[in-house]
Amino acid sequence: MQVVTTIEGLKAELRKLRVEGKSIGLVPTMGALHAGHASLVRRSVAENGATAVSVFVNPTQFNDKNDLQHYPRTLGADCKLLETLGADLVFAPAPEEVYPEPDTRRFSYPPIDTVMEGAHRPGHFNGVCQIVSKLFLWVEPDNAYFGEKDFQQIAVVRAMVNDLRLPVTICPCPIVREESGLALSSRNALLTPAEKVTAANIFRVLKDSQTFAAGHTVAETHDYVVNSLNAISGLEVEYYQIVDDTTLQPVDSWTAASGIVGCITVYCGSQPVRLIDNIRYR
Ligand code: PAF
Repeated sequence: MQVVTTIEGLKAELRKLRVEGKSIGLVPTMGALHAGHASLVRRSVAENGATAVSVFVNPTQFNDKNDLQHYPRTLGADCKLLETLGADLVFAPAPEEVYPEPDTRRFSYPPIDTVMEGAHRPGHFNGVCQIVSKLFLWVEPDNAYFGEKDFQQIAVVRAMVNDLRLPVTICPCPIVREESGLALSSRNALLTPAEKVTAANIFRVLKDSQTFAAGHTVAETHDYVVNSLNAISGLEVEYYQIVDDTTLQPVDSWTAASGIVGCITVYCGSQPVRLIDNIRYR
């Protein structure tokens, strides 16, 4: 496995792989890798001749300086894990390599990127599109792998790929959960053991809401989730939205769309950690 930190080095390694006729799978990450990332890398290794993994905490997608500063960074451990998973190439650039100049490009895909995360984290998806478009242009992957925990991110990346006509297939991968049900996230490393137990209620309530939904309206199901979670000490729901899985617009009845997903963001703990998750109703 090669670890490169420059775009030149990245392109040189990719050229060697392409000369061997290998298709390229890309797994974009911000590091602090866990079993969720491992599942993306395993799938890429199974489906491509070679797998490249980017490890870069992208400053332009953080709208909160404190969040960026505290984001876990564990490059040494990440590389060890990636080696065991069979990744071929790791791209771990410094911010100056990626953004020698401020990126002034603006990406906007309303209404997909204006709701939920888009509404609560201004500029977040613009930053995601800035980094992912650069990675796609530099790596030119055949396939790119993203976890469904970031449900809205996948929709926004797809919109960007369509917009820029990039020749890459976006491969969504299922959420990986701890035994408790807590969705794996690099941010879980910021939770105390007790907070992790509390955070497991997020999925428990979402799961219960699938049963609840069978006999109740969308609005009642929304309130059930929000009220149940806010009643638990240490949890505070930022938003819960039950949406059409393609347009990401809120639905008001269970027959309003063929695919319906509930997307949630919850703050957990005394130094609040922002956790996201989602559940499918249809
Ligand atoms: O999902 C993430 O970890 C990030 O948003 C991504 C796609 C690696 C871009 O920085």
